[in-house]
Amino acid sequence: MSWIVGQEVDHDFFIVEATEDVTKGNNPRPYLSLDLKNKHIECNSKLWDYDDHRSKDIEKGCYVHIKGDVKEFNGRPQVKIREIEKVAGADVDYGDIYKVASTPPIELKKDLMGYLSLVKNETLRKMNDKILVQARIMKEFYNAPAATRNHHDCVHGLMEHTVSMMGAALALKCHYRYLNIDLLITGCLWHDLGKTVEIGSFNMGGEYSTKGKLLGHMNISLDIVTLLASELDIEEEYEIDFLRHMIISHHGRKEYGSAVIPGFPEAQFLSIIDSMDAISKVMHEKLMEIETDQWTARRSNTLTLQTQMIRHKFFDPTPSYFSRLDDKFKGVL
Ligand SMILES: [Fe+2]
Ligand SMILES: [Fe+2]
Repeated sequence: MSWIVGQEVDHDFFIVEATEDVTKGNNPRPYLSLDLKNKHIECNSKLWDYDDHRSKDIEKGCYVHIKGDVKEFNGRPQVKIREIEKVAGADVDYGDIYKVASTPPIELKKDLMGYLSLVKNETLRKMNDKILVQARIMKEFYNAPAATRNHHDCVHGLMEHTVSMMGAALALKCHYRYLNIDLLITGCLWHDLGKTVEIGSFNMGGEYSTKGKLLGHMNISLDIVTLLASELDIEEEYEIDFLRHMIISHHGRKEYGSAVIPGFPEAQFLSIIDSMDAISKVMHEKLMEIETDQWTARRSNTLTLQTQMIRHKFFDPTPSYFSRLDDKFKGVL
């Protein structure tokens, strides 16, 4: 969506930068210079007579709702603010600010439940059912990105990444028949759950949380497993340590942050599926931005895709992953 001068603004924005200043001259007037960002526009704006707004605590890293108009200043768009209100994290319309997952959240939730219904192991089922009723964690899980950059850096990105991995896990189970699908599907659900704390939907535009920086998402996921398994009184069950292992080994190598390297086939496959899904998403996204026979940028700003890719004439721009749980898979389980 592009903006035209004169168009009305009635949207949520993320404050990228906020700087207090005063105009020069005999009659200095205080203002707050705001760098605003949402899905539609990225621009600067001035909040005049800032003293009147001081109590609203508008600062870098917060979300605001703005009513105003788009103007032009030095050939660039600028929002002239008529009304501005700070918006609490829980009330932010993230879909207005950031790009969203390519599959609607309602479909993703349906697929998530479909894949989880395949898990027959009692202990793993109990753990999955238990996490699904943790309202605070699941709200973040449904909304948060999988990363602030690199891959699935969009609203519902964490859920999209998880569901897409489950689909890949099932496809691989169809071929590598010895794999245990209960471990794989459960591993997909839990592997990045700690990102609900490490990143969380409230931190989409900014830094990782302090807890996230201190502990990392694998340790946070591990803490959640320990807490819920003890609440269910199943912490000594055989499967729990296998779930723990899949979480702390899913980055594959110690130099990538894993506490241990994968020690059984499902853990190894989980790690492969994780990076495969991240790379696949980024490749598809970058190729969608260019024309046939063009190459992606030489220096990509993502760690996931470090090489150039050409969009050849056979590239299929339809969805990057198969988002429906297909009945044909059930025959091999
Ligand atoms: Fe991870
Ligand atoms: Fe992941």
